[in-house]
Amino acid sequence: MDYKVADLSLAAFGRKEIQLAEHEMPGLMAVRAEYAEAQPLRGAKIMGSLHMTIQTAVLIETLVALGADVRWVSCNIFSTQDHAAAAVVVGPDGTVDAPAGVPVFAWKGETLEEYWWCTDQALSWPDGTPPNMILDDGGDATLLVHKGAEYEKLGAVPTAGEGDPEEWGIILETLRRTIAERPGRWTETAAAIKGVTEETTTGVHRLYEMAKAGTLAFPAINVNDSVTKSKFDNKYGCRHSVLDGLNRATDVLIGGKVAVVAGYGDVGKGCADALRGQGARVIVTEIDPICALQAAMDGFQVTTLEDVVETADIFVTTTGNFDIITADHMARMKHNAIVSNIGHFDNEIDMAGLARTPGIVKEEVKPQVHTWTFPDGKQIIVLAEGRLMNLGCATGHPSFVMSNSFTNQVIAQIELFTKTEDYPLGVYVLPKHLDEKVARLHLDALGVKLTKLTKEQAEYIGVDVEGPYKPDHYRY
Ligand code: NAI
Repeated sequence: MDYKVADLSLAAFGRKEIQLAEHEMPGLMAVRAEYAEAQPLRGAKIMGSLHMTIQTAVLIETLVALGADVRWVSCNIFSTQDHAAAAVVVGPDGTVDAPAGVPVFAWKGETLEEYWWCTDQALSWPDGTPPNMILDDGGDATLLVHKGAEYEKLGAVPTAGEGDPEEWGIILETLRRTIAERPGRWTETAAAIKGVTEETTTGVHRLYEMAKAGTLAFPAINVNDSVTKSKFDNKYGCRHSVLDGLNRATDVLIGGKVAVVAGYGDVGKGCADALRGQGARVIVTEIDPICALQAAMDGFQVTTLEDVVETADIFVTTTGNFDIITADHMARMKHNAIVSNIGHFDNEIDMAGLARTPGIVKEEVKPQVHTWTFPDGKQIIVLAEGRLMNLGCATGHPSFVMSNSFTNQVIAQIELFTKTEDYPLGVYVLPKHLDEKVARLHLDALGVKLTKLTKEQAEYIGVDVEGPYKPDHYRY
């Protein structure tokens, strides 16, 4: 088996944590039991690009239990948990000397070159055949396939990319090399893929853009906008893991501090709630009047970053947008202000601009925690080099909330793989009855007792006794 992880000897520790996680992931385990016999993913060759954590290990092993052949990478250079990666490679029945699990190409602290090399490795089976499904988080695997196929059609890989010059240089080089090695590979891959299921807001945004531009090459299910994903993982997951990231990175007392949360979408709502829970005075910035009004009615001061940049202690960006905190902002911050991002990409904070500041000195306090000292002696603390701090500095969301997200992922993979003709080229969300099913699978574990509608009540509000209970336009 081909794979590349940090240290296979961590597998036993990883396996113990996987077993603990399985208990906390009732949705995934129920889906495993439900489809064990039917094996709906037999024949599926799934390439996954999603943070290689313990929770993801349970997802991977669920896909395998349903018949899939899987290869995996992390979707971020800092988010891999090395013991999880090792345990997945060794597999439940293998040994360190004879790994019998799933090929994983991921370790904590990859370089960007290594990151794109890993993505390329996972997109090609050892016999040279392509995957027929992608499970993506942020859209990098989807992007590589699309760009590869586009440049093959053009007959040339351009010299400049569409975003950050450093990262695009590496993406273009990866495509140049792989196309030279095997011309037509990416066109073949794009044609072989029945569909992609996308985990996060940022990746979903990319998919809708491609659909709008007419460049989408295969159908997609937007897992993020299942209610049981974005209204749970993004919100309650970040409510947990934003504090975990801050605590493990700095252990600074949050109570009494002024914390700025940029963006009051699902992630921002969770972060602001958590910081307030610790006694911070939380200030929100927003561009959307609806979210700004929500933040105000939830009791937060809403103002611009300009107004508070010099006085706040902790900054967390949650926007999925770029240039939220600029180098100029950072130069104006207080000594030891903590600067962090929990959105998908690192461009929310202008790290490149910070590095260009004349006379600035960067020092590592510990991995993923750096001080940046300005010529006047003032320093700021930047977490995870501007990449998502909850996965870079801590271990991301806990199992129970990820069980909701990943049960949606597995159902979406089954939908696209087994009912391909029901999903012509486009971007879809799962039907509401499946969203309700995911929630239902998590109720018992929390001791929740549902009230059952009477037939008369169901008729009165115009729904079926068995659901769905809300129209598609309902917002929760
Ligand atoms: P969302 O769209 O619900 O929220 C983003 C909010 O930021 C919106 O309300 C928008 O109006 C606001 N915004 C945009 N530009 C802004 C600006 N210049 N200043 C202030 N506010 C601005 O998106 P969601 O679901 O909250 O996700 C946000 C990001 O977090 C995405 O990149 C997503 O992929 C990522 N994410 C990260 C997770 C993690 O574990 N780290 C988990 C889930 C999502």
